[in-house]
Amino acid sequence: MQSSMSNGAYDSHQLLSKVATNNGHGEDVEYFDGWKAYDNDPYHSSSNPNGVIQMGLAENQLSFDLVKEWMLKNPQASICTPEGVDKFMEIAIFQDYHGLPEFRSAVAKFMGKARGDKVTFDPERIVMSGGATGANETILFCLADRGDAFLVPSPYYPAFNRDLGWRTGVKLIPITCESWNGFKITEQALISAYEDALTKNVRVKGIIVTNPSNPLGTVQDKDTLKMLVNFVNDKRIHLVCDEIYAATVFSLPRYTSVAEIVTDMPHVNLDLIHIIYSLSKDMGMPGFRVGIVYSYNDRVVTTARRMSSFGLVSSQTQHMLAALLSDDEFVTRFLDTSRERLSRRHQHFTGELSKVGIECLKSNAGLFVWMDLRHLLEEATTEGELKLWRVIINDVKINVSPGSSFHCSEPGWFRVCFANIDDGTVEVALQRIRSFVKRDKREVKPKTSLKKRKEQMQLGRLSFNNRRIDESSLMSPHNLLSPHSPIPQSPLVKART
Ligand SMILES: Cc1ncc(COP(=O)(O)O)c(C=O)c1O
Repeated sequence: MQSSMSNGAYDSHQLLSKVATNNGHGEDVEYFDGWKAYDNDPYHSSSNPNGVIQMGLAENQLSFDLVKEWMLKNPQASICTPEGVDKFMEIAIFQDYHGLPEFRSAVAKFMGKARGDKVTFDPERIVMSGGATGANETILFCLADRGDAFLVPSPYYPAFNRDLGWRTGVKLIPITCESWNGFKITEQALISAYEDALTKNVRVKGIIVTNPSNPLGTVQDKDTLKMLVNFVNDKRIHLVCDEIYAATVFSLPRYTSVAEIVTDMPHVNLDLIHIIYSLSKDMGMPGFRVGIVYSYNDRVVTTARRMSSFGLVSSQTQHMLAALLSDDEFVTRFLDTSRERLSRRHQHFTGELSKVGIECLKSNAGLFVWMDLRHLLEEATTEGELKLWRVIINDVKINVSPGSSFHCSEPGWFRVCFANIDDGTVEVALQRIRSFVKRDKREVKPKTSLKKRKEQMQLGRLSFNNRRIDESSLMSPHNLLSPHSPIPQSPLVKART
């Protein structure tokens, strides 16, 4: 007998909505399969030393000791302590979708600090949402209609397809960036994506860019930002900047927010400029689900605020964070320490990889590196990349994310997160990588010629594009949540060779 769970999407008489059963969640890409592999067999130094090491999760866990220390010194900040409980009722009943005024002021101040105090933010423009995930969807709901498109430089964050497109019905069109210039956005690539959409009769409503970039760990330079701002201004479309990694920039070149760029561009219509922020990365608190829409457009602020009822940050969290983020001394120390620790971890990790002939894209931000394994591919295609990825997951036992999950146009790049594990686990991961590289060198395999690689690269692009079309037209029957995990149960077994 079939379980009731297996009915639904595939019944001839459709029980669920089209939105619920289409593939818009995007969770059956390899990025999420890797999480599942970790979930099934998680590494632990003593209880499971041969398990999978999780390097596919962009979490910032390096500076939690400072937050803990602050919490112990400031028990009144929580309404669940003897020192703070007098505020319990006031906070428990408060839920205005504008947010606590002290929370909005503290977040606005923090956003300025996270951007090196080069710009200020107006608390009246702070709109809350459930993480940057909710904030990104909210802004798209405000700016585009079903069937409209947003351009997004690739490679890009895999969950954008879900966050920006699943429920809104907005299409994402990649602006293809390539390795020859360090994956920088060029005006040519931008124009080509824009014109391509127009020839297909797709209305482009804006560009969404992550700065610093996930997965690249690089910052957008001033000229690129100006080029993007001028482009949206000329075309009267929107620019959304997802700046959730703003305070992870740990070395030069320094970070420039779009907020800073537009102050020097008085001709620009500010109604077109919007910023997405969250405390998930800079403060390492994704569990608190603090997301922010910051728009210079008054109507967007009003509408987004109305929509924020669907994803408010709990008033208990707002209350606690208002106290934490208005402590200037703490914030300065936290941001400095976090940057320093990220820098050290990044330097150590990339330095050790380099010793075994593995290079990463030069980067100065984020919680990950963009690792170049093109030389280890048997064939320079998406299939070749996924074959290598399966070996890394199943034999090397490290969950890294293949570039194809990020819609990268060139096979052989992998995102490796370095800030969600402790020093000891980093050493185990490095040791596994060293052994793997040594083993790979011993295995005599026919190396492809440069000409063949170039041909395969072209093929790789084609097959990848086809795959994307196939994915979006498929229904997915296998995404039931496991009882203990937020990760979808798409079968990793399909990834085994
Ligand atoms: C570029 C980007 N935007 C948004 C998000 C979602 O962040 P949040 O946890 O705040 O929803 C992520 C998370 O990895 C991200 O990398």
